[in-house]
Amino acid sequence: MHSELTSLRAEAENAIRAVTDSRGLDDFRVAYLARKGAIAAFFDRLKTVPAQDRPALGKLLNELRSAVQRMHDEKSAALLGAGTSPAASLDLTLPGRRGFLGTKHPLTQTLDEIKGIFVSMGFGIADGPEIEDDHHNFEALNFPPDHPARDMQDTFFLSPRALLRTHTSPVQIRVMEEHQPPVRVIMPGKVYRNEAISARSYCMFHQVEGLCVDRGVTFGDLKGTLIEFITRFYGPGLKFRFRPTFFPFTEPSADIYISCFICAGKGCRLCKQSGWLEILGCGMVDPNVFRSVGYDPEVISGYAFGMGIDRVAMLRHGIDDIRLFFENDVRFLNQF
Ligand code: DAH
Repeated sequence: MHSELTSLRAEAENAIRAVTDSRGLDDFRVAYLARKGAIAAFFDRLKTVPAQDRPALGKLLNELRSAVQRMHDEKSAALLGAGTSPAASLDLTLPGRRGFLGTKHPLTQTLDEIKGIFVSMGFGIADGPEIEDDHHNFEALNFPPDHPARDMQDTFFLSPRALLRTHTSPVQIRVMEEHQPPVRVIMPGKVYRNEAISARSYCMFHQVEGLCVDRGVTFGDLKGTLIEFITRFYGPGLKFRFRPTFFPFTEPSADIYISCFICAGKGCRLCKQSGWLEILGCGMVDPNVFRSVGYDPEVISGYAFGMGIDRVAMLRHGIDDIRLFFENDVRFLNQF
């Protein structure tokens, strides 16, 4: 009986391999596992073998039955799987699923555009640390020791010596400390100010600084370069206003205004009824700044400028709350 069991097992293995559909599987079940099947017949014969052989043979038979049951179940699962295979369930009339594509943050898009315009005009790109010292953030930029911008109210001090830069102008100093003229770079980055958070101001925002230094650089170069930038960035046909102002690190200094591109200068909410939008600060680098980096102001000259990226992006897209940039609400971000 022992050898008969072994050949039955081999026979079942061959039989299950030949099964290709559910009918074949049912035939297999009837032949081997059903009440009148081959394995049940052996269980019947067990009663006739000598009592001392029964336990060992019974164990073998039980093992055979579970092995054959397993063959059956595995084939059943395989046939079922084949039934729901892609080929069987593919509905070619269903509309396709659109892949989700992320987009660049509106501030990154704005900065990329600004960079592209200046790079095409021959500017390089530099950056510097967000944690600065008093020397680079203020002193070398010709801020008098008692200047209000050093006040605790504006500046985040990390320690008596370290602070979070309040503008990107310190990168000017770092670039000039490391390079001899000519220098022509823009310097984008994050800046920090200890201000109350509101729709108009945030404790962190972004600026792009610009610096061009060489022999014989004039205010005419500044105007030509910045008008070219503004025209390419905001579009043609705008009016400009260069309004004298004061920055410690430039002399003379100007704020640049453009005629409001929403109302064309008539007065609206965006320009606060003035017809003008302030978009840039600029000026000729102060001789004291050149001295602080070891440049000779008798030999070289230069211009510098700075603008807020967040502000520029808000103006262009008509965004009225700076906090939207930093909340990362996808309903906002998806629109860009
Ligand atoms: N640093 C100035 C600010 O944070 C912006 C600025 C104005 C930068 C004039 C300049 C400049 O380089 O020439 O408000």
